[in-house]
Amino acid sequence: MSMFPITRMRRLRLPIIRPLVQETYLHLDDLICPLFFDEAITAPLSISSMPGQQRYPVSMAGDIAHNLFSIGIRAILLFGIPKHKDSQGTSAYDENGIVQRAVREIKKAVPNMVVITDLCACEYTDHGHCGILEMSSAELANDESLALMDKIAISHAQTGADIVAPSSMLDGVVSSIRAALDREGYSKVCIMAYSSKFASALYGPFREAADSGYSFGDRKGYQAPITNRREAYRESELDALEGADFLMVKPAGWAGDVISDICAFNIPVVAYQVSGEYAMIMAACEKGWLQSDVIIESLLSLKRAGASLIITYFAEEVAKLATPRGGAKTPLSGDLNSSCPRDV
Ligand code: PBG
Ligand code: ZN
Repeated sequence: MSMFPITRMRRLRLPIIRPLVQETYLHLDDLICPLFFDEAITAPLSISSMPGQQRYPVSMAGDIAHNLFSIGIRAILLFGIPKHKDSQGTSAYDENGIVQRAVREIKKAVPNMVVITDLCACEYTDHGHCGILEMSSAELANDESLALMDKIAISHAQTGADIVAPSSMLDGVVSSIRAALDREGYSKVCIMAYSSKFASALYGPFREAADSGYSFGDRKGYQAPITNRREAYRESELDALEGADFLMVKPAGWAGDVISDICAFNIPVVAYQVSGEYAMIMAACEKGWLQSDVIIESLLSLKRAGASLIITYFAEEVAKLATPRGGAKTPLSGDLNSSCPRDV
């Protein structure tokens, strides 16, 4: 290795050389678009803490999926907001529940859209926690809640979901739903495990979006502490051993270390850029304090950390940026060059 003046890093930064040495790219195939379906509405409902995001009625599911697919989005993550909530989260596995209906509509309209379902109880329980509670302590009852997760997983698979994404952070949830799915003949349904899910303040806007706020306590009894990198590694290792097909990290932007660490398992790593990250970027852009290039930069940084896939509320916007002007032909794998996202 030689030093200055023999070595000049700036030679590689000459405009015509730069594209040759770009290490990280963003493709539309990398993006997963979250969508919220609300059983109680008949027209889209704006989410105030997430400008540009909406809850949709299930009647629009097919059209939305079709529009997203036509601009190059090939995977979506579904959340449901049910009319009925109870202590046991029963509407989460109702065969005519909100997510189940949305999956059917989407698969009918766009069979090749990869449909991922969030598998949790917090939108469906009246107390807002991610499973069933212990009578005595009002803590999440781990093993009793696993049976509920199994039922939800099977009902999602029955409606045609390609991937289920358990987000409860219950111990043993991945092996439990893997066994349940296999037993019912759904061995082809993938599991995308929320593995390194930190107890984060960045989920605030989501709780408005999905009406999944909790009525007491917090989620620190089941979500991982943000201080613990090795614990996150161990959670991911366990999910890998239990049979997860994908490992997820969230909130993504504050966990580049964890994304990088868990690439060691050679299982595709999914970075979830969460609601609070979206809200921060949108707020700064709306104020004119940041330019929208920050969006692509945030996503490229997650790819650089090692993420294979990114769940982001910016998916649709990025896909529109990547569509050539005039929109004649949609590139399913359009490279988005970091230096000039507006010129793709
Ligand atoms: C449900 C769930 C949450 C998120 C995804 N699935 C909320 C939570 O755990 O409190 C957060 C996503 C986001 O903030 O965008 N368990
Ligand atoms: Zn939950």
